[in-house]
Amino acid sequence: MTASVTVVDHPLVQHKLTLLRRKEASTAEFRKLLREIGLFLGYEALRDLPLGKIMIDTPVCQMEAPILAGKKLTFISVLRAGDGLLGPMLDLVPSARVGQIGLARNEETLMPEKYFFKVPRDTAARVNVVLDPMLATGHSAVRAVQEMKDIGAKDIRFVCLLAAPEGIKTFTEAHPDVPLITASIDERLNEKAYIVPGLGDAGDRLFGTKGV
Ligand code: URA
Repeated sequence: MTASVTVVDHPLVQHKLTLLRRKEASTAEFRKLLREIGLFLGYEALRDLPLGKIMIDTPVCQMEAPILAGKKLTFISVLRAGDGLLGPMLDLVPSARVGQIGLARNEETLMPEKYFFKVPRDTAARVNVVLDPMLATGHSAVRAVQEMKDIGAKDIRFVCLLAAPEGIKTFTEAHPDVPLITASIDERLNEKAYIVPGLGDAGDRLFGTKGV
């Protein structure tokens, strides 16, 4: 199976991403820009949702009009930075259900361990969109998606803001069936597993917790 990786290269997304990356961007600016870019990422991630038809009356006449007809949606935030993409996804689909997965790095194995998992259970009948702004090593993303598969999810997509080539390789090897949507493929990871050029710590920038 060939993995699907989509880079949303729309000029508005790339412009907003530049503004968001700047170290002088305030918490408020960062939050606002992440929300705006999240709308475009969600738009792309949900591009293949099936449509049905309903009859409606416009003020002018009756018409057969398109309406979402397929599976219901669940958005799954990988805590805590994933919450920054949740708002725009819910703007797009207000009726979606929400799950949250908390993963923390085990300092001995350096692998993610689950500390929180609250996800709507009818995953097999739903489109499940996993949200995490930074695909760095890829280990958390791989684990989060695996957790969803373990409870029966079949249709899964992964949305991030930035991806490192190392993370894309790890992710697509583990889950070639899960489309990946991002705004940028950056250059590499540094020795601390931060994305370069990146934007720093997405959680700190989103919540204003740097140095806390
Ligand atoms: N997580 C972040 O928040 N930033 C990175 O650069 C890598 C992982």
